[in-house]
Amino acid sequence: MSTPVTVDGLYDVIHRRRDTRREFTGEPLAGDVLDRLLSAAHAAPSVGMSQPWDFVLVRAPETLTAFRDHVAGERDVFAATLAGERADTFARIKVEGILESRLGIVVGYDPTRGGAQILGRHAIDDAGLYSVVCAIQNLWLAATAEGLGVGWVSFYREDFLRSLVGMPSHVRPVAWLCVGHVADLPDVPDLERHGWRARAPLHTVVHEERYSPR
Ligand SMILES: Cc1cc2nc3c(=O)[nH]c(=O)nc-3n(C[C@H](O)[C@H](O)[C@H](O)COP(=O)(O)O)c2cc1C
Repeated sequence: MSTPVTVDGLYDVIHRRRDTRREFTGEPLAGDVLDRLLSAAHAAPSVGMSQPWDFVLVRAPETLTAFRDHVAGERDVFAATLAGERADTFARIKVEGILESRLGIVVGYDPTRGGAQILGRHAIDDAGLYSVVCAIQNLWLAATAEGLGVGWVSFYREDFLRSLVGMPSHVRPVAWLCVGHVADLPDVPDLERHGWRARAPLHTVVHEERYSPR
């Protein structure tokens, strides 16, 4: 039986979790802490117990720099699609802390893991990908509980990242996670603080019995 204190602690971590970019201090992460984060990720649920994730730990400055440069290019690609207030607002938003965090964890999805018959994936092939995202969220919450920051970077082309870290062609890079010590975890998400987009009220996404269009 869990205690109320544990429940409060869990909800506190869930609500304190933040995507971090500018808060990284660059202090190296101790090996045992990193092990705990990866163990939390590896404890995630997975369709058919397939555990289809891989974690590539990237610390080499030249690799971090190469990825940062690629992301900067993709940021420009997105910026070029914007105009007016959206362009001005986006210009103020930092989308990565790749160099500052000093550790990137590239999370991969291997659809071949677990053999040809994955229990539970015959009808929904994406269930494998969902499993990887569960592992990422576990890692993110564990990092928050440890007082660390995680920033999810998705401004990249999959082929570039796959080749940068030597993933075979059948493994899909799902995320680059910037992981490290942070000065603090902001109360308000960066995108909200900059006026890009805010969290919607819960009632706008809850439906009773049947989906009701808004
Ligand atoms: C799949 C996914 C991809 C994301 N990609 C980026 C990204 O490339 N750059 C970035 O700054 N934040 C990225 N984020 C973080 C979101 O912007 C952030 O989760 C959202 O604004 C809510 O803020 P919070 O996580 O602090 O609550 C991503 C988040 C998810 C779940």
